[in-house]
Amino acid sequence: MIDQDGATPPSATCRVCGERVEEFLDLGQQPVSQRFRAPEDVSEEFTFRLAVGICTACTMVQLTSEVPREEMFHHDYPFISSTSRYMAQHFTRTAQHFLDTELTGNDPFVVEIGCNDGIMLRTIREAGVRHLGFEPSGRVAEMAAEAGVRVRTDFFEEVIAKEVAAAEGPADVVYGANTICHIPYLGSLFRGVDALLKPDGIFVFEEPYLGDVVEKTSFDQVYDEHFYLFSATSVRAAANRFGFELVDVERLPVHGGELRYTIARRGARKPSAAVEALLAEEAERDLTALTTLRAFADRVDGIRTELVAKLQELKAAGRRVVGYAATAKSATVLNYCGIGPDLVEYICDTTPAKHGLLSPGQRIPVRPHADFTSAHPDYALLFAWNHAAEVMAKESEFVSGGGRWLLYVPDVRVM
Ligand code: SAH
Ligand code: TYD
Ligand code: ZN
Repeated sequence: MIDQDGATPPSATCRVCGERVEEFLDLGQQPVSQRFRAPEDVSEEFTFRLAVGICTACTMVQLTSEVPREEMFHHDYPFISSTSRYMAQHFTRTAQHFLDTELTGNDPFVVEIGCNDGIMLRTIREAGVRHLGFEPSGRVAEMAAEAGVRVRTDFFEEVIAKEVAAAEGPADVVYGANTICHIPYLGSLFRGVDALLKPDGIFVFEEPYLGDVVEKTSFDQVYDEHFYLFSATSVRAAANRFGFELVDVERLPVHGGELRYTIARRGARKPSAAVEALLAEEAERDLTALTTLRAFADRVDGIRTELVAKLQELKAAGRRVVGYAATAKSATVLNYCGIGPDLVEYICDTTPAKHGLLSPGQRIPVRPHADFTSAHPDYALLFAWNHAAEVMAKESEFVSGGGRWLLYVPDVRVM
């Protein structure tokens, strides 16, 4: 277990405040979600129990066990941000927004935590603005560097943040997307941000939103990398704990529903009306109440039953079913539901590094996207449902040829 704050807390203890965590969802033994394996590799797989709980004191929703970060983020980490054209546009707009607002002063400086292939920082670089990306996963860090982005192949944490602050001076903006929820050691993270930010600088991050996960029953947002499922309520409490304040929130339509949090030093910026409004909405819908979360867990169980029944019915009727996109999320679905190659023939994916390998746990073959277009199946189980608009626009011939999409979010349905 990695603990950048020193002590290793016993399980079911909040990683932020140390109080008791109440478990509400058990997704069983799971492999590392993005560890695709060669067919000849029959060595024992690293597995862990994937379960989620909520802190009874600070409301932070979190996994009850922690996978060592090096098991997930290493040289061969296969997730490449720029695979989605829609996400590339999203991050170009995000960068442009920072350039137009926070980065207009003299020699501004922006730091990104988890810059991956440089999907956001490319635009910052093109504008000639000083920047630094932290990216521990070697291959994607190299891709960022090849695009001219300044990148450091390191995990962001307190010690290194202090080093950067001393060498390069303070930052106007520290930004993270789909990365801050991967970092269990929030104390070290916030102290690092504190060391690095200008007095009136902002820390902005966007992550899958608990409110959307509960609303859509998108339980596959839960996997090893997603240690936290943030809400405005829990992020405000965490920010306060470390001397900061939540000053803005914005709901984003990406990745099935995210929330962008803007955090500043206490008293440095006036909180927007959106913060109070969303906190009130979360309270109104009892988002962090155990009854709400237990009802969510019951719906997850129902989806498993229905999805397996649907796949068995299609198999009995002689229909061909393949998976579309070997996402990290798919590992949760397949291993929780016990769906293997008998029910899903293979999974097609656009990432070359995943081709020819088997999915973690259930060992379903991963094949190139061309294997989808050259031999359309009867049904495609859409694991990248968060990119549905982009995918369905691209695959209109699949549907016009009689193919059907099978979805499990927000419920099991054929489209
Ligand atoms: N921001 C990109 C990448 C998200 S994937 C996007 O939204 O598409 C998460 C990335 O965070 C991975 O590339 C992973 O290597 C990196 N990461 C994980 N832990 C980190 C840490 N402690 N500091 C910096 N990056 C980290
Ligand atoms: P994403 O939902 O971002 O991934 P994750 O759950 O892993 O965070 O989807 C990324 C994966 O989906 C990646 O393996 C590439 C694949 N993909 C396709 O195969 N085709 C597509 O059109 C898109 C958008 C993604
Ligand atoms: Zn807590």
